[in-house]
Amino acid sequence: MGKEHIVMGIDVGGTGTKYALVDTSTGDLLTERFKFATPKPATPEAIGTSLISAVKHLDWSGPVGIGMPCIVKKGRTLSAANIDKGWIDFDAAGFLEKKLNLPVTMVNDADAAGIAEMSFGKGKDKDGLVLMVTLGTGIGSALFIDGKLIPNTEYGHLKFKGGIAEKYAANSIRKELGLDWEEWSERLCELLAHFERVFNPDMFILGGGVSKKFDIYGHMLKTSVPIVPAALQNAAGVIGAACLAAKQTKRREAHSRKG
Ligand code: BGC
Repeated sequence: MGKEHIVMGIDVGGTGTKYALVDTSTGDLLTERFKFATPKPATPEAIGTSLISAVKHLDWSGPVGIGMPCIVKKGRTLSAANIDKGWIDFDAAGFLEKKLNLPVTMVNDADAAGIAEMSFGKGKDKDGLVLMVTLGTGIGSALFIDGKLIPNTEYGHLKFKGGIAEKYAANSIRKELGLDWEEWSERLCELLAHFERVFNPDMFILGGGVSKKFDIYGHMLKTSVPIVPAALQNAAGVIGAACLAAKQTKRREAHSRKG
């Protein structure tokens, strides 16, 4: 077997950026999951420069999958909620390909995390409607119907409680307002109940760094739909971005073989 299934995955978050080499056939990390503080302001130039160092650090030359907190269509980033506005309506894939001199696949960070969970984690072989909700600096969402992603759902930006959902219940809001676990779970539960009324999923998967602490607050989340913490926890975004890049590389190769 060649090495085509090994891909570098990167998850650019509002606060931290993570990266690792991923075996996309198993979802296993082949290196440590490294992390650095996302540059501020997180302009394309600043992120590009930080990713050059990450690629050098892993001594990597091959496809790279990058998840970002933006709506992503055909390699263009179309929104920028917790990141510099320079990413709005921007050819992110083209720009980063030039910077890194490597093939780049771009994806929304929550969609990336969802792809990983559906392939290797709690969503594996789950039919029906699965809603992954990532809780970090913002709130991300990834919706799957019978395992197929409906991309860029952005439910963290739904109007809720006089503002938007992520400003009410993100993990960053818990920290910012000094909410205890009970207070924050109450908010999260209200939001999940809202998602339940609107979308009627068959299962929720909770992701983001705080999914590791599910033991502390999980029992306080009362919904009629099962809620499970992401199995891949905070590595899901890195793994999913790498898997998507592996798929895209295969597609490109098949395309060029056809001529
Ligand atoms: C962004 C989403 C992202 C989520 C989690 C939101 O503010 O709009 O694209 O998935 O944060 O990072």
